[in-house]
Amino acid sequence: MAIKKVTTKELVEMKRKKEKITMLTAYDYLMASQLDECGIDLILVGDSVGNVLLGYENTIPVTMEEMIHHCKAVSRGVKRAMVIGDMPFMSYQASVEEAVWNAGRFLKEAGAEAVKLEGGKEINETIKKIVESGIPVMGHLGLTPQSIYKLGGYGVRGRDDEQALKMLEDAKELEKAGAFSIVLEKIPAKLAKKITKEIKIPTIGIGAGVDCDGQVLVAHDMLGLFEDFKPKFSKRYGEIGKETKRCFRKYIEEVKNKEFPAEEHSY
Ligand code: KIV
Repeated sequence: MAIKKVTTKELVEMKRKKEKITMLTAYDYLMASQLDECGIDLILVGDSVGNVLLGYENTIPVTMEEMIHHCKAVSRGVKRAMVIGDMPFMSYQASVEEAVWNAGRFLKEAGAEAVKLEGGKEINETIKKIVESGIPVMGHLGLTPQSIYKLGGYGVRGRDDEQALKMLEDAKELEKAGAFSIVLEKIPAKLAKKITKEIKIPTIGIGAGVDCDGQVLVAHDMLGLFEDFKPKFSKRYGEIGKETKRCFRKYIEEVKNKEFPAEEHSY
């Protein structure tokens, strides 16, 4: 029997029932299939692929072609979770028309069921048009890494009253524009709680406290696989990076010493 995919309707229902929504990033078939098997609700093919897998300094250089490539691989590994494609920098900012075409590519070519865009009410018209085209949209407020040069750093957002009020207004505007959910990144827990209470669509927090309707982390961070990055908001559930290097060193040593391959590995 075919496994039923997670839908946007179910996510709103989960918020209503106060059932937490789980989301992690994946950029390839293997990790996506493992996440799906473990029961994750949402898989984000994040533009964090730029820093984590492609060796860029930030998410700015990531292209549509790179996102489509990774999203295709993820979709092939997923039966139940909703796959969300992260729209990269300059794929939706220049014009509404271009944004709709690029959002459509995630569904048509890459097997995603939704897209994510960073920004507040300045991208309302874009979100409306994408949603009208039949493409579910997830918003992203707070620390929005594609605006890193404008923001001037990766610090906490929404600490002062003016920023907090704007973020609350932005969240309401995104809901009105038709977004089905909003990621809240690196904002005070109190503000995330208020936003979560005042909108009907689910909030997914990353560094936004426990009161969001769901949580997201970069899978490579929580596995300890991307060792360079250890933000306060993430939790290391393993030290896979250390284990990987231990295995690589052991292999190199055994090949040098002619311990591998042994009898049992030979024909
Ligand atoms: O690109 C990404 O991984 C993200 C998450 C951190 C939400 O946008």
